[in-house]
Amino acid sequence: MGNKKDWGFSTKAIHGGNEPDKEEGSVSPPIHLTSTFKQDGVGKNRGHEYSRVSNPTRARLEANLAALDGAKHAVCFSTGMAATTALFQLFDAGDHILISRNTYGGTYRMSMNVLKRQEMAFEWIDTRDSQNVADHIRPNTKLVHVETPTNPLLELCDLEATASVCKQKGVLLSVDNSFMSPYGQRPLALGADVVMQSSTKSLSGHSDILGGVLTTNSDDLDERLRFMLKATGGVPSPFDNWILLRSTKTLGLRYQKSSDNANELAWWLAKQKSLVRVLYPGLKDHPQNEIAVKQQRTPNGEVIFGNMISIDVGTMETRDHFIEKLELFTLAESLGGVESLICVPYNMTHAALPEKTKLELGITETLIRLSVGIEDVVDLKADLRNALNK
Ligand SMILES: Cc1ncc(COP(=O)(O)O)c(C=O)c1O
Repeated sequence: MGNKKDWGFSTKAIHGGNEPDKEEGSVSPPIHLTSTFKQDGVGKNRGHEYSRVSNPTRARLEANLAALDGAKHAVCFSTGMAATTALFQLFDAGDHILISRNTYGGTYRMSMNVLKRQEMAFEWIDTRDSQNVADHIRPNTKLVHVETPTNPLLELCDLEATASVCKQKGVLLSVDNSFMSPYGQRPLALGADVVMQSSTKSLSGHSDILGGVLTTNSDDLDERLRFMLKATGGVPSPFDNWILLRSTKTLGLRYQKSSDNANELAWWLAKQKSLVRVLYPGLKDHPQNEIAVKQQRTPNGEVIFGNMISIDVGTMETRDHFIEKLELFTLAESLGGVESLICVPYNMTHAALPEKTKLELGITETLIRLSVGIEDVVDLKADLRNALNK
């Protein structure tokens, strides 16, 4: 049967953590809907005691997600925010964390309104240039947390260069990989210490559950993160774990198709004269297209640009007309589902950022983020064409 480590991505997605049930042989694994487990004597359990600490369905999911990221460990949380919060809570009052500017607005809200009150220091910097990251590292900096591509401006961070800066300075590097999924980018192989993903997005891909996961190759970090999960309790339900375990089986197919669709739409959108800006890492005029080519790769080594596009339509009138006319793209928060969505980050996902910061970054009221699904691209293009026509 060969070594599991040598399996291809889809084989790992389908078989990792999905071994048939030992008791009954069910090919689809059972859902262990239980809060607690019978103990055979005091101190004698059969592997699990209480579902906040561990649960067989979650253990299967963690094996599956670790395999997809090429990681030794995966720790699953109830949401992406619970995962990021647990990661940041590894640090103490007085510690300093550097974060990519224009990351997901919820990361900003949690850092500045919750952990900052506990005397942790956060600084939002441009992580497109690894020298800029190096210049901002202080003696008390403990973590550099980057998103690449960022949400919603699709700015990239060179992961290998940034990991080398962090290693030299003895600082941990974590990467929010929710936009790319492990199918499109595997940051641990590029030198990151921890990968965070909102599994609400492409990992689950059907807009039906919430989830978060942290993966790492470090035994020490795994132990500390697992302790944080047990201590603070942000665990996902067995049912959501099962849905996610089923969903990752088709991640490769879904992610490839949605990226192919997005790539075709981005090139078409770039030709539309009415648009002020079209942001997509696959476009030749994206200032960091070369970094995308270097690090955004499928498990087979092919370049992949992802399923997210941002466009600036110029005026509020055009924006409202565009949103109203669209039939297939639904106005909704979130991304990475099989169905195409649009959102206005200024008012929606990035509402928590101060107005001045949003405008300085270029998150205008007329910037629209598209999450491209796996519908027929010809229909998506017709929908966009119809909505852009006045
Ligand atoms: C890039 C990114 N990271 C993290 C999150 C937070 O994930 P969740 O909504 O699962 O808490 C989101 C949610 O939109 C996101 O887009």
